[in-house]
Amino acid sequence: MTRTRVATGEDAGAIARIYNEGIADRLATFETEPRTTDDIARGLRERGPRWPTVVVERDGGVIAWASASEYRTRACYSGVAEFSVYVARDARGTGAGREAMEALVRECESRGIWKLLSRVFPENEPSRKLLAKVGFREVGTYRRHGKLDGTWRDTVIVERLIGEAAR
Ligand SMILES: CC(C)(COP(=O)(O)OP(=O)(O)OC[C@H]1O[C@@H](n2cnc3c(N)ncnc32)[C@H](O)[C@@H]1OP(=O)(O)O)[C@@H](O)C(=O)NCCC(=O)NCCS
Repeated sequence: MTRTRVATGEDAGAIARIYNEGIADRLATFETEPRTTDDIARGLRERGPRWPTVVVERDGGVIAWASASEYRTRACYSGVAEFSVYVARDARGTGAGREAMEALVRECESRGIWKLLSRVFPENEPSRKLLAKVGFREVGTYRRHGKLDGTWRDTVIVERLIGEAAR
């Protein structure tokens, strides 16, 4: 039995655990330092109700999350959100990423957000597959966008129009 809902502060520990698996895998993010429960709880508070985080629960436990955050402070970009999506290692490939993204899109649409965007390492096939399946377009590739463990990495920019902008 799977369900999705907006995250609360009580989910911070599960969100951190899932995120830290993704950080350790070195396929998803430039981040290398594990997050604590407090780090995540602070992030949830700072993003407030405007920028939602959703969790996917299966059999009573959190197995995935997706979050939106502010893209730029300029008013003209007030409806553009950056997103992240992470699934617990032992739950990947079972539809949780798709459910997390679909729930995040619903929550963002209800807040008047009109675009989700992110960057994905070209080698992150599971992410590129998931995002293509849920309607994201690959805009192009930033070359040498940052270094991970001392090595230059490219990133593929992805975007999806939602809500009013998608009509
Ligand atoms: C990327 C990630 C979020 C995908 O989530 P997931 O729950 O494993 O994906 P799902 O099971 O919902 O699959 C969604 C679609 O993507 C495809 N897909 C997912 N993983 C795949 C893989 N390893 N190879 C091929 N296709 C894959 C599936 O075929 C599926 O399509 P379908 O529903 O039509 O069959 C997950 O692997 C993860 O957390 N990875 C580590 C963190 C990460 O990379 N986050 C993204 C940062 S940009």
